Amino acid sequence: MKNDNIKTINAHQQQIYDLFERETAAELLKGYRDTLNNLIGGGGKSLKILDLGGGAGHFAMSLRSCFPDKRCEIFVLDTTQYGTWTKNADKITFVKDSAENLSKLFAEETFDLIFANRVFHHFVKSSWSKSFRGMADIMKQVAFILKKNGLFCVTDHFFNGRLHHTSTSKIIYALTSIKLKPIAMLFRKLEAHTAGIGVCFLSKKMWLHLFSQTGFIIEALKESPNRKLKWYEDLFLFIKNHSGDNVIILQKKAG
Ligand SMILES: C[S@@+](CC[C@H](N)C(=O)[O-])C[C@H]1O[C@@H](n2cnc3c(N)ncnc32)[C@H](O)[C@@H]1O
Repeated sequence: MKNDNIKTINAHQQQIYDLFERETAAELLKGYRDTLNNLIGGGGKSLKILDLGGGAGHFAMSLRSCFPDKRCEIFVLDTTQYGTWTKNADKITFVKDSAENLSKLFAEETFDLIFANRVFHHFVKSSWSKSFRGMADIMKQVAFILKKNGLFCVTDHFFNGRLHHTSTSKIIYALTSIKLKPIAMLFRKLEAHTAGIGVCFLSKKMWLHLFSQTGFIIEALKESPNRKLKWYEDLFLFIKNHSGDNVIILQKKAG
């Protein structure tokens, strides 16, 4: 039977994401400013925070500077162990595991805040539909380990298709999943860092559907401006529009 775990990122991706997270951690934090200010105002001492797919831990370290009290525990969970983890191990608890195992790793209602910055589109399995279903499963696990009044904070892309809202998502998944080296190299040159591994970007409609199906209601949604598309994206990917780093704050549905 085919192994259908989520694929892990490669060394090229790790290097790029480490750098990018370092450069943008302060900006990410700004996107969550209102949510964080409410908690900082409340003391924030015994909070439990998880950064899912928290990469090198730069964002988690920025969170640590907002919540310096050691009774606030900050966890980073990622399938890849970055070099930065050892250096910051006295401030953050790093867990090398997959988001697929959240409800095995943590008890029900453990966390006050769970962040997922630019990570869900990396939950890539052997087909587009399995990847999408896998994301729903992980969201349900997020809801399980989140406290009743906890918040789920997501920063991610909206890739809205021109033919159908899901079409660009499927095309990008198919193209980036091609393992043939010359093709993967070509896509990498076109700045697709996921070439050869795959990526499953969602449209805004798909995100909203997933959230409502997995037990969340939206508390706030801040959309970034649409990016100017490159000619080949317009021609081959049938993109209606794309915005990166949209911020969505979610609460658990009651009951
Ligand atoms: C683009 S990086 C985002 C890093 C950081 N959160 C940021 O905002 O810059 C995506 C991260 O998701 C991690 N990831 C991919 N699949 C995962 C999984 N199944 N469980 C946990 N983390 C995963 C990758 O290893 C990578 O570090």
